[in-house]
Amino acid sequence: VEKFRKDYAALPYSIDSVDLDFNVQTDETLVTSTLKLTPTGGGPLVLDGEDLRLVSAEVDGKELPKDAYELGEETFTLHKPPSSPFTLKTVVGIEPAKNTQLSGLYESSGNLCTQCEAEGFRRITYFYDRPDCMSAFTCRVEADKKKFPILLSNGNEVGRGESGDRHWASFEDPFKKPSYLFALVAGDLGGIQGKFTTKSGRDVDLRIWSEHRNCDQLDWSLESLKRAMKWDEETYGLEYDLDVYHVVAVEDFNMGAMENKGLNVFNTACVLAAPQTATDGDYDRVLGVVAHEYFHNWSGNRVTCRDWFQLTLKEGLTVYRDQTFTEDQTSRAVKRIDDVRVMRSAQFAQDAGPMAHPIRPESYVAMDNFYTVTVYNKGAEVIRMYATLLGWPGFRKGMDLYFQRHDGTAVTCDDFRSAMADANSVDLTQFERWYTQAGTPTVTLSDKKIDGETFSLTLSQSCADTPNQPASEKQPFHIPVSCALFDKKTGKKVDEQLFELREASQTFSFSGTVTGSPDDYVVSLLRGFSAPVTAKQELTQDELLFLASNDDDSLNRWDAAQQIYTRAILDEFTGDAGKGDSLDAAVATFRAALNDKSGDPSLRALNLAVPGFSELGLKLDDGFDPVKLCEALSSVKKALARACSTELKEVYASLYSDAPYDVEAASVGRRRLRNACLANLARAGGFEQQSVKHYEDAQCMTDQLAAAVALAGEATKEREEVLGKFYESAGNELVVNKWFALQASADADDALETVKKLVAHEAFSRTNPNRYRAVVNTFAGANPRAFHAADGSGYAFIRDEVIQTDKTNNQVAARLCGSFGTWKKYDAKRGGLMKACLEEIVKTEGLSKDTFEIATRSLK
Ligand code: ARG
Ligand code: ZN
Repeated sequence: VEKFRKDYAALPYSIDSVDLDFNVQTDETLVTSTLKLTPTGGGPLVLDGEDLRLVSAEVDGKELPKDAYELGEETFTLHKPPSSPFTLKTVVGIEPAKNTQLSGLYESSGNLCTQCEAEGFRRITYFYDRPDCMSAFTCRVEADKKKFPILLSNGNEVGRGESGDRHWASFEDPFKKPSYLFALVAGDLGGIQGKFTTKSGRDVDLRIWSEHRNCDQLDWSLESLKRAMKWDEETYGLEYDLDVYHVVAVEDFNMGAMENKGLNVFNTACVLAAPQTATDGDYDRVLGVVAHEYFHNWSGNRVTCRDWFQLTLKEGLTVYRDQTFTEDQTSRAVKRIDDVRVMRSAQFAQDAGPMAHPIRPESYVAMDNFYTVTVYNKGAEVIRMYATLLGWPGFRKGMDLYFQRHDGTAVTCDDFRSAMADANSVDLTQFERWYTQAGTPTVTLSDKKIDGETFSLTLSQSCADTPNQPASEKQPFHIPVSCALFDKKTGKKVDEQLFELREASQTFSFSGTVTGSPDDYVVSLLRGFSAPVTAKQELTQDELLFLASNDDDSLNRWDAAQQIYTRAILDEFTGDAGKGDSLDAAVATFRAALNDKSGDPSLRALNLAVPGFSELGLKLDDGFDPVKLCEALSSVKKALARACSTELKEVYASLYSDAPYDVEAASVGRRRLRNACLANLARAGGFEQQSVKHYEDAQCMTDQLAAAVALAGEATKEREEVLGKFYESAGNELVVNKWFALQASADADDALETVKKLVAHEAFSRTNPNRYRAVVNTFAGANPRAFHAADGSGYAFIRDEVIQTDKTNNQVAARLCGSFGTWKKYDAKRGGLMKACLEEIVKTEGLSKDTFEIATRSLK
């Protein structure tokens, strides 16, 4: 059934406290729940529950007669609850080892852990499993001492004991919370310990746990956690509020990590880091995700969501907080470009497809389908716009007021917007449209004029159709458009302004005196990606080259280079390559990045990277041939590498270093640029021997992986040699995932064949999401040439995977099913084949609601 945002209704009972008792047995775990309820509206009490075996139910100590309650597929209904406060006690049996959905209480490598967001708590016990039901939790866990030596739950441990081969521990969480923040962990874990003293003097015991074999890879996450705690105090004045903070790494996890109060549970991929097993990118991810989950303690836990439609209230805000944290910890310019790339490739693509939704969706069937790049990353851009419009001090005032007003409660996106408006005495009514309207707006610069000595320009906005929202009904957004004006002759900046575009079309002026014609000047538009929109202006090749070297906004300098590359690739695609000079301009841009010896090496590497398949596809009209686009893309990439092979070799050689590994920006940048050169040299051809040497000389995973990737595209003996060694020497399971993924994404003629072998490999797993996605989702998402093979073989493979995996893990299958969502973009033949896959999926018997929702939305 579809749920709608407009249908929100307050609960008829509050659950003031919940006491949980977990009795962990070999197959079944018995969960006894004691709820103290108070009527706030009365009527029948309808609690959520899924896959539970009800053992007993009593109200105020009396066993309920059979006709007093009713069990539905997903509910427990008490027909006539008492009209004054009462106690409901239920006992249910659950089977964690059989829980392949990885939602609720499940087993991972023999240990028990929970994942309750969004709706997993109902798979543990009967409850109001929605975020506006906030309760005081106590919890007791009893289990076998040998098998489960470590017992953890939220909050403070308040008791512990043992008898025979059993032991138990009990916990009390002093903060009221919704059920999605509940957590329990029981297992044989090792870990490391640290300490953080908050600014008001609270000593916090920091514990990072994992399976024993991974305990040597936990130091970086502890360091990341300490940095995040300090940063949140310094930046927002926010302190941690419990005496202990646990992070537990588990191998089987659907998402990245979970912010359960005082007891975060993490995918190993977002915690473990050591030079031999993790790349620089992995280090960054650990830093970012550890911080993200920590920041949730305020933006998410202390102030939570009233209903799941409000998800971006906590996720957009927390992503914004982790992004700016990483900007402060590493390089602001590099982090910003990395984030903008995600927006332009993944988020803009979602906006352009059948799953397009506002950051605050209006309806859902399976909430887990809405943990999207739109809710998270576009949501973060929306938060960033508040900061841009209000300035940092104004934004901070808004944040202070938000926490002051709403601490300890479950609220809405409108409450957040009101806090921002009220703290600054500004009107943010129009700003609500970012929450109600889906799609990527386009901001077009037209009409540049000089009147007297003033330069003025006209900006207009539009937004394409999205599901249920025709373009003609969309209202103008309130868009901060950061612009600068440059003088072509001197290369100097004349002026810089933040224009607030609120109407369909508006004219703005720069200050500063100008003379001559508008063509003597260049506008740098949407600096810093000041809004999640597509910026458009007609620029000549020379103007783009001018911006690529003169703009003082690093994001727009990079963007100018991207536009130059885009022109070359699209010219190649349409067959116009011979006519213009677009490839020459691309080569010049590429060469300039290589030769920019004094520039930040990370930025130089980013300027060597051309836009990807998804981003380019958004620039083409519907009905294009995706394989032809892949070919144009790789032909331009090859041409760039071949034209600059001398410079590439020179820069590559100059960046060798045998200094010990560290993750300082300078070292990361050096590796990033050196490995970008390697990738290009491999593309140019004849670099196999050197790639093998790169692999042999590598002192860290970053360099090893780069060498393996450089070789993966061609069936050579060097590829076999290096891939063989890579697998043999893999230091942990995450490295094995990289081995799988690099083959599944390889732009090789034998890609599908390879992937089919990988699925049959002894180390492949259908139940471990990381392993599964490394092969299957990587193929569908990162190997467009093979996925879109003209004979439909790539589609058929993914269709069968969706159908099979849906039987065990709905969330993983639903994500994978999203791969077919772009069918309308491609030529009739491919579109037809993809559509047929969706139809096949929809009619599968017993399909989950998750996959059903994605498939049916995609077909509309
Ligand atoms: N709140 C988590 C985070 O972003 C994500 C959990 C999502 N889980 C899910 N099954 N949808 O930090
Ligand atoms: Zn989050």
